[in-house]
Amino acid sequence: MRISDKPMAVRLKDLGVELRPGVSLTEKTSLGIGGTTDELLLHQYDTIPHVMRLLADENIPYRFLGGGTNVLIADGELPYVVLHLPAAHPGVRIDGNMAYVDASADLGGTVTFCAKNDLGGMEGLIGVPGSIGGALRMNAGAYGTQIGSYVREVELYRASTGEIETLRGNDIRFDYRHTSFAPNDVMLRVKLELPSKPYKEILAGIRVCNEKRRASQPLNQKSAGCIFKNPPGGSAGRMIDELKLKGHRVGDAMVSDRHANFFINVGTASCSDMLRLIDEVRERVRGSYGIVLENEVIVWQN
Ligand code: EPU
Repeated sequence: MRISDKPMAVRLKDLGVELRPGVSLTEKTSLGIGGTTDELLLHQYDTIPHVMRLLADENIPYRFLGGGTNVLIADGELPYVVLHLPAAHPGVRIDGNMAYVDASADLGGTVTFCAKNDLGGMEGLIGVPGSIGGALRMNAGAYGTQIGSYVREVELYRASTGEIETLRGNDIRFDYRHTSFAPNDVMLRVKLELPSKPYKEILAGIRVCNEKRRASQPLNQKSAGCIFKNPPGGSAGRMIDELKLKGHRVGDAMVSDRHANFFINVGTASCSDMLRLIDEVRERVRGSYGIVLENEVIVWQN
């Protein structure tokens, strides 16, 4: 979708929004799949409610893109604009055991920054790609750690009220790859409380997790991490592997031969290739195990 109306572009600029026309989301997602649209970079958090109202008044549909590491986006010209918070480096401020982190900060970078300040706890999250905002929304987790355990406060744009609000950690539900945030809430900042630990000790934990991940996951390939959530008590990866589906392809979308719950783009896979692969694998698992796997990847169909 293109914002071609000049007065609208000027109003956006006045609200601290940078309009980037015709951006290919192929470049913005870890799967390397996605169509083209205008991107709106929100440079000023406090104007976000005004920007949202303006878009609603002008009937401009939008979606919010975080790190782009857990999303599968349709191909072609997209019927919505994409909102994005500019990356923050490091985007973290430490005060005692509290880390105040911008939603656009990189998750891995945040874990490392906190470690250098002798704050640990999040070692397991080190190799999880994406932004803090995306990690919060999904309650990212790995190796027995989930980010929700450390959240004390979240500042967010609340779609239901149209305002920026601060929620206390206790008022947010963090479940397995699921939270009580509304789908159109926009994460802005988070306060994490982390246990004190010497840097060296944290580093040792980080190394162990990195090694486990390197040994079992296709880290250098284009993926969205695990495609499916694990069913209660089970492992999607193990079931897909047992069905001998590693290497199974639809076009350039392929089940990784390293970890069967990672679906990778081995060339120029389209969104429909990936969706067909997801459906085929889900159907095979349902047929053999009677379990309907739920997507972990978020699909943006038009
Ligand atoms: N397995 C196989 N074949 C495979 C993959 C796994 O037999 O191709 C077996 C493993 O041998 C193991 C079991 O399945 O016995 C579980 O595998 P793994 O330890 O790799 O964990 P997972 O359940 O597949 C989960 C998360 C990962 C996270 C790891 C480590 C989900 C959907 N996945 O994977 O998170 O990194 O544990 O904690 O919860 C993600 O969410 O995107 C993600 C990568």
